[in-house]
Amino acid sequence: MAPKSSTDSGKATQIAPAKGKLGVMVPGMGAVATTFMAGVQAVRKGIAEPIGSLTQMGTIRLGKRTEGRSPKLKEFLPLAELNDIVFTGWDLFEDDAYESAVHAAVLEKDLLNQIKPFLSSIKPRKAVFDRNYVKKLDGKHVKKGKNKRDLAEQLRDDIKQFKKSSGADRLVMIWCGSTEIFLTRTEVHSSVKAFERGLEKNDENIAPSMIYAYAALSEGVPFANGAPNLTVDIPVMMELSRKNNAPIAGKDFKTGQTLMKTILAPGFKARMLGLNGWFSTNILGNRDGEVLDDPGSFKTKEESKLSVLEQILQPALYPKLYKDFYHKVRINYYPPRGDNKEGWDNIDIFGWLGYPMQIKIDFLCRDSILAAPIALDLVLFLDLAQRSEQLRGLGIQEWLSFYLKSPMTAPGLYPEHDLFIQLMKLKNTLRHLRGEPLITHLGLEYYD
Ligand SMILES: NC(=O)c1ccc[n+]([C@@H]2O[C@H](COP(=O)([O-])OP(=O)(O)OC[C@H]3O[C@@H](n4cnc5c(N)ncnc54)[C@H](O)[C@@H]3O)[C@@H](O)[C@H]2O)c1
Repeated sequence: MAPKSSTDSGKATQIAPAKGKLGVMVPGMGAVATTFMAGVQAVRKGIAEPIGSLTQMGTIRLGKRTEGRSPKLKEFLPLAELNDIVFTGWDLFEDDAYESAVHAAVLEKDLLNQIKPFLSSIKPRKAVFDRNYVKKLDGKHVKKGKNKRDLAEQLRDDIKQFKKSSGADRLVMIWCGSTEIFLTRTEVHSSVKAFERGLEKNDENIAPSMIYAYAALSEGVPFANGAPNLTVDIPVMMELSRKNNAPIAGKDFKTGQTLMKTILAPGFKARMLGLNGWFSTNILGNRDGEVLDDPGSFKTKEESKLSVLEQILQPALYPKLYKDFYHKVRINYYPPRGDNKEGWDNIDIFGWLGYPMQIKIDFLCRDSILAAPIALDLVLFLDLAQRSEQLRGLGIQEWLSFYLKSPMTAPGLYPEHDLFIQLMKLKNTLRHLRGEPLITHLGLEYYD
């Protein structure tokens, strides 16, 4: 087996080939999910390009700069082909993927109509849903059961049924459902045993998203968490993930404003520029915006967004630059904008001799357009991780931090938020899997 760390390359590690179909299971068939599904089909049909997806467009440099070797990631690694992906999903609304995509209004009708038969064929399964966890939603397309354990069993049946009916060789689940109320770890999350007792007793600390994750991991299906929910950030899921060789990654897709923060803040720190304050405000009008209008759901999102700067800037190491900087994030629901949100940042920085400067950003972004390629890459990489002898038993796939606002880490480790460190970590993991030398950018040998 190749060495687990160090800059030396070893032998290529074992990765099973991506044969057969990959079943992608999506709880929450809203804006992100349908933009992801529609995008995969549009690319398959040659109607559009997979912009923003590292797995589809990215390359990886191998060896020395003089070697000129930079294959495409998808040629370097045995990733599943887009043509081999099949989808299913769950939602508390009955709309199929076409109707839901029309409702979300992210993609133009013209594009949607070209792939209508495909989208219409993806009908949501009944959701495991409880209004106590998402106060702003109320749908009727919901499973009934005598307790949460029974609901988990029903989801496990869905998973088995989908595998059989679609003929999928492998499965991955990715949560694209709403942001739930803020929850913290409790006793019921501490082990599989405690969690299963909690399912029987309908423990209120078990949110619907956790029931999906429990069902997936129990079936050996990798799970990615696109929302800031606690879901897989609890010991029970880490235990299940490792035991069943079902990798996990979370949480919260890194799009929009947080993406900009993790691009800019590392730059300020690299140049030893100080920060007095960072005020971020957003308006958005999609269903996600409506859900986040509830203080319980907003608190979950806020926690996820706030941690980023603190971790990147390391005030404890640089008190003169970053002690007590003021950081505020606001999200306001404003229906006229739909999915096309607008995020403003006012950044108060200071330089040489403490002289203040300001930076203003006005990012007119499209949330789901930024999130969809992330969903695709996470699904393909989690599937790869499950086929990798070295990665499948690790549980948390920290090398996928690149895609996430609040990356999961091994207990006791702080997460890396800096986008450039995250990218290096991701690519070096891939080089390592293939037995290629890791790239350190030392480069002294060029001057021998
Ligand atoms: N769009 C982005 O850029 C972005 C970035 C980071 C995170 N996210 C997160 O991704 C998630 C999806 O975002 P979106 O814009 O697609 O929202 P959306 O409201 O359009 O879609 C969410 C869907 O999930 C469904 N849902 C909620 N609870 C469910 C349950 N228990 N089971 C099945 N379905 C359920 C809702 O009915 C809805 O259709 C949100 O949690 C959001 O915070 C989005």
